[in-house]
Amino acid sequence: MTKKVTVRTLLNMKKSGEHIAMMTAYDFPTAKLLSDAGLHVLLVGDSLGMVVQGHETTIPVTVDHMIYHTSMVSRGADGPLIVTDLPFMSYHASPEVALHNAGRILQEGGAHAVKLEGGREMAPTVARLVEAGVPVMAHIGLTPQSVHALGGFALQGKTVASAKRILDDARALEAAGAFAVVLEAVPAQLAALVTQRLRIPTIGIGAGPDCDGQVLVFHDFIGYTSGYIPKHNKQFADVANTISEAARAYVDEVGGGSFPGEAQTIRLSDETWETILAELKGESDATN
Ligand code: KIV
Repeated sequence: MTKKVTVRTLLNMKKSGEHIAMMTAYDFPTAKLLSDAGLHVLLVGDSLGMVVQGHETTIPVTVDHMIYHTSMVSRGADGPLIVTDLPFMSYHASPEVALHNAGRILQEGGAHAVKLEGGREMAPTVARLVEAGVPVMAHIGLTPQSVHALGGFALQGKTVASAKRILDDARALEAAGAFAVVLEAVPAQLAALVTQRLRIPTIGIGAGPDCDGQVLVFHDFIGYTSGYIPKHNKQFADVANTISEAARAYVDEVGGGSFPGEAQTIRLSDETWETILAELKGESDATN
């Protein structure tokens, strides 16, 4: 039986200085592989809107999409904490709306916790969810659901005012009961300071090496993304080329008649086939 990672495990990991490895996952086989590889947290991120659905932003993603993908991940994962993003506009109208949607994600999808984007303005929502028993991971810095308000996917926290806002937001979210906070696209020095000042773990993406944990988007990590690759990404594999080469070889082999070969072919014994052929004698070919 795999040891289950809980919110408490992550807090203890911060205390003992053990780094948290988190990765996005959107389906059953990926969740199984990542879970077996020892990932501590699987994030069913709304980045699926971009890397799986092919949209330019995460904005079109719905609660139903998140539940669908979470249910696949929760069937594949055995051990990691499963955190699912509350998608755009599923938690902004009121804490009660957020609670309704978070409840669906836990009950219908099988997530253990939800993640939401935003700073101190989200503190009452975080508090309402936590009070109802829903663990919340916060997400500040670059918050992709606000891409139009931010004017693009750019580094945050470069000025005194914005660095102070990020630190104050992190503190407000911790005080509201968040169990961890994602820091996306912030300077490494600022991420280190926030990490030092918080009791809860920070998980960085484009936030340097001094966070308590790191998260990557699965498709970027395995080299399965076409188009824009963020600077913070490290590609650990080259799956796109592997698939392209395999697909080209398949087209060639089908075209040239070498696939399927004898190894992939099932034949009856000559005796059995003669019996069948004898029975079928007299029946006309479809082409006649
Ligand atoms: O949706 C997502 O994948 C995320 C990560 C970038 C942290 O929020």
